[in-house]
Amino acid sequence: MQIIRFADLCAQGQARGKRVFIRADLNVPFDDHGHISEDTRIRASVPAIQMALDAGAAVMVTSHLGRPTEGAFKPEDSLAPVAKRLTELLGREVPLVADWVGGVSVAPGQVVMLENCRVNLGEKKNSESLAKQMAALCDIYVNDAFGTAHRAEGTTHGIAQFAAIACAGPLLSAEIDAITKALAAPKRPLAAIVAGSKVSTKLTILQALSRNVDQLIVGGGIANTFMLAAGLNIGKSLAEPDLIGEAKAVIEAMKARGAEVPIPTDVVCAKTFSSDAVATVKKATEVADDDLILDIGPDTAARLATQLKAAGTIVWNGPMGVFEFDAFENGTKVVAHAIADSSAFSIAGGGDTLAAIAKYGIESKIGYISTGGGAFLEVLEGKTLPAFEILMKRAA
Ligand code: 3PG
Repeated sequence: MQIIRFADLCAQGQARGKRVFIRADLNVPFDDHGHISEDTRIRASVPAIQMALDAGAAVMVTSHLGRPTEGAFKPEDSLAPVAKRLTELLGREVPLVADWVGGVSVAPGQVVMLENCRVNLGEKKNSESLAKQMAALCDIYVNDAFGTAHRAEGTTHGIAQFAAIACAGPLLSAEIDAITKALAAPKRPLAAIVAGSKVSTKLTILQALSRNVDQLIVGGGIANTFMLAAGLNIGKSLAEPDLIGEAKAVIEAMKARGAEVPIPTDVVCAKTFSSDAVATVKKATEVADDDLILDIGPDTAARLATQLKAAGTIVWNGPMGVFEFDAFENGTKVVAHAIADSSAFSIAGGGDTLAAIAKYGIESKIGYISTGGGAFLEVLEGKTLPAFEILMKRAA
């Protein structure tokens, strides 16, 4: 992907004394007491900010937080807790600036945080006048917000049209490189794991990947629908019978390319959906009408692990079963460790997937862990994200 990289500009001394506007994705979750419960995205934003400071730039950083009403700022919309956490991480004060669209005062070597950009009128609809005003604040616009790269908004797209220079920050660059390595120029065999509760939410991903990957491994409720498509009884398990036709089409598309969708040959069943339910391993052909399939079985997990260990590239989105319940975690655990032990380049993304990676402590063994939720899914669908599209245009 042809883009301008902020790291290159800094290395060439082009950021010295310049006003740099960084769009990060600092949209982090909060607990019931208003404390940040997970700060990965804030930590991931530090390299771009530090890079700009080290290069002698005057640094502005902003993000959205939640989905506030434009023009109606409420205290809970404030990035104040994020600025506080960033202050700790950078080891220097990060003042928070409100009402900043008309002008920002910041000197070279300083960093300020601009209050929640989604409170500005016109941000969501990518208003041209807002974009022009924001572009006038800076000499260099840096998009480092992969988590918001699928949104064409004022700070992710509009400003990039009008800023003197528009480039990708180190986080966005790393995401682009990992995605390119995994999907555009993968070492084969390329295996993708697409799991989760519903085929409907990931149908376009399954269809897009069925044109590219060598093994399309399905898990969770998605696997149940594929088992139905393969003519198996799944009892009372979560599935979408109205999508059997689509599942069959995916299986056929893969077969036609000499690729496969491995259907589970054994499963772990329960009679109720609860953490203390009795888990019973059954052959996929022996599921009873009152069974709930809550995980893939050990034979299936072992077979998938062998395939994953032999893969050249692995794309992972979604757990294989209800891994939050110990009795139904084996499939996800075996697959997670197989990915970790594989010499394949692996890329993983999505909330549940990140939770599984954390549960099994394999963070350091995954090639790249994406910070994107919806953005990562749209990449898997084969879409060109608006933020990428405009940065490529500006690099041409
Ligand atoms: C996310 O959390 O997925 C991103 O920050 C995007 O947020 P949005 O769905 O509100 O655009």
